[in-house]
Amino acid sequence: MEHEKYSYVEALKWLANKYNVTIEETESTPEARMQQQTADSLYILNGFAQQFFTGILLQDEEGQDIGLSYLKERGFGDDIIRKFQLGYNPSAADAFAVEALAAQYSPDILQKSGLVVWRDGKAFDNYRGRIIFPIQNQTGKIAGFGARIIRNNDRAPKYINTPENEIYVKSKILYGSYFARQAIDKQDECLLVEGYTDVISLHQAGIENVVASGGTSLTPDQLRLIRKYTSNLTILYDGDAAGIKAALRGMDLAFEESLQVKPVLIPDQEDPDSYVRKKGAAAFRNLISENKKDFILFQLETSLAAAGTDSNKKAQLVNQIAETISRINKVEDFTRRQDYIRRSAELLKIDETGLHVLVNKFLREHISKSESRAATANRKTSDEPSSATQFDDELNDLLNQDEQQERAIVRSLLEFGLKSWDEEKRVADYMLQEFTDEDMIDNKNLINILHIYKTWYQQGLEPTARNFLYQEDQQLSTLVVSIMDFPYEVSENWRTFYEGKIHTREDLYKEEVKSTLTYLKLRKIRRLIEMNQKDLERSQNQDDQLMFMQTHLHLKQMERELLEASGTVIVKI
Ligand code: UTP
Ligand code: MN
Repeated sequence: MEHEKYSYVEALKWLANKYNVTIEETESTPEARMQQQTADSLYILNGFAQQFFTGILLQDEEGQDIGLSYLKERGFGDDIIRKFQLGYNPSAADAFAVEALAAQYSPDILQKSGLVVWRDGKAFDNYRGRIIFPIQNQTGKIAGFGARIIRNNDRAPKYINTPENEIYVKSKILYGSYFARQAIDKQDECLLVEGYTDVISLHQAGIENVVASGGTSLTPDQLRLIRKYTSNLTILYDGDAAGIKAALRGMDLAFEESLQVKPVLIPDQEDPDSYVRKKGAAAFRNLISENKKDFILFQLETSLAAAGTDSNKKAQLVNQIAETISRINKVEDFTRRQDYIRRSAELLKIDETGLHVLVNKFLREHISKSESRAATANRKTSDEPSSATQFDDELNDLLNQDEQQERAIVRSLLEFGLKSWDEEKRVADYMLQEFTDEDMIDNKNLINILHIYKTWYQQGLEPTARNFLYQEDQQLSTLVVSIMDFPYEVSENWRTFYEGKIHTREDLYKEEVKSTLTYLKLRKIRRLIEMNQKDLERSQNQDDQLMFMQTHLHLKQMERELLEASGTVIVKI
């Protein structure tokens, strides 16, 4: 099991096969036995087909002239061609079908395998004139094939793949996993690429811990397969829209399967195959190890190294990183800001609190700048709004949707603030402590209410909704009324109505406080994820993309922590 990375059953079967021992499987139903028989026949046929196709590629004239010379042109050597059992299907109508029928394979199985199609009672090869990529399963047996056209052509698909059958279940197969499993285990990392040729090319360059998703998005089964060997997944993607989307989906899923996942962008419109061929294995490894790091800290590290002992430059750098941290804060949450401050201070060997103060200074600067910009901007005459303005508008729109949740927070505070939270604290203590960060509430009037409440509370008063009804600011009292669902005119009726309501909610108030807080945070995180995703899709430049992807992961992490803390089951959307 350890050596081949097999499961217990796989290991038993492997051993039994090696020493010619028949394994008796007990209590199988007739249907299960039938299915097992079909599966066995398919494996045997696929093995036969692979040998036929490889034989053609290496020994047949057409195979050599067309297939082999194509592979050689692309830089694939003999060893790698043999290792991956590549082949070629002749361009004649039925070269393979004739061989297979002569070898007594049943028409049924031939059809199921996808190797042969039947038309008017005649058998035709499905992969005529194509390069054959056998697809090995976990134990090295051939589950199916990918067949690549030689010269790209608009009317025919580039690859034809085996149809789903008893042994080829696309969602459970990762191309290359059989050849990669030991390297993945040893290096404790799995690289994920898109294509067959990427896997083979990287293997040839000595990079063996690599599997391919087959150009579609990852499935939970595939991720579970990876997790058998490692919890570190590195997704290599190219910078086009489809590539970004696929990488992002992969990251989300990997995240849910508890894999540590890092995106790496392959630059210059290359794919892993072309990149490693042009730049070599060392450059490829470099690309991965450098880009895998957290983007911001990576930048800081390199600039620090460049600054050396120059204290002027180091001071500049401190300012720079504080500025950077204050900027990313807009699309992230305080937890992440805290984390960056801590880790940057560590790297810079400076006081954490000092860096904190500096970051806040930049933060305030951004806020006052964007406020004055909003005041002076004349959006109708400028046909292209600056991206910052556009961003702010978008932010406002998105955040308005949180208004209801924001109100619920204030309502909980007003309604339950004076009740006990635990032995030491009241609800107000708990909620005000959770609200050190005003960014969580957008409505200025609501923030105002919180401020007033806090001031009163800290002065030893015992604020309730009623106190707000009698204070001077008309706007605030109106808001409080609407929040509490009070009738506008305070009548005798509401008191009985309201007190009755409190009574029924009495036992539940702690949960209500918790869930309003969680819900608001969650909503905010989800908005941020959406916004970040839009930014990602819009971004042209590689560094930005990487940062947005990192941000995405951090946000997802926060979302999960929040859900776990609140004991909510993650609902997949
Ligand atoms: P690519 O188009 O990137 O192919 O599709 P590739 O493997 O890099 O091939 P080359 O380098 O152009 O020869 C990535 C993967 O998507 C799947 C295949 O698994 C392919 O390896 N694919 C692509 C299909 O299944 N069908 C297609 O028509 C195209
Ligand atoms: Mn390619």
